[in-house]
Amino acid sequence: MDRTFLMVKPDGVQRGLIGRIISRLEDKGFKMTAGKLVQVSREQAERHYAEHVGKPFFEELVGFITSGPVFAMVWEGDNIVTLSRLLIGKTQVTEALPGTIRGDFAAHTPFNLIHGSDSPESAEREIANFFMPEESIRYEKSVATWM
Ligand code: GTP
Ligand code: MG
Repeated sequence: MDRTFLMVKPDGVQRGLIGRIISRLEDKGFKMTAGKLVQVSREQAERHYAEHVGKPFFEELVGFITSGPVFAMVWEGDNIVTLSRLLIGKTQVTEALPGTIRGDFAAHTPFNLIHGSDSPESAEREIANFFMPEESIRYEKSVATWM
């Protein structure tokens, strides 16, 4: 079973989209194993976006992600890193297709509602930046055998 780090960004929290975004992931059959509201600190944001240090939009990115609470989550599922990014949609709103979270709900590029890890390695690093190991809950869903 694979896992990933997903985070409803401050725009999604402010717009009241936490529930609908979670529903998309539940509808797909994925399993949430941890979740909480977090006011991201600057240090935590810089660790999270370490790959973007030095890029022209880095300051804007850190400013945005620290501008209000986020809803941080760990989710499990086979191939979930790839599949969740398909559900999320492309980074640029002009490329995010209808049917994806960004395609359906986001209209301006920095405000793209949700973050999803881009590799299993990124996922583990990002999860460790937001959660203690004991915050992830191990449990089975009986419906899993039908998915
Ligand atoms: P995340 O899930 O947030 O990591 O998005 P992503 O993986 O689809 O994109 P990426 O990791 O390449 O970029 C991280 C975030 O930086 C994006 O979600 C955008 O909000 C922002 N970003 C990326 N490219 C640009 C850019 O050219 N300009 C601005 N202003 N923001 C950008
Ligand atoms: Mg990314």
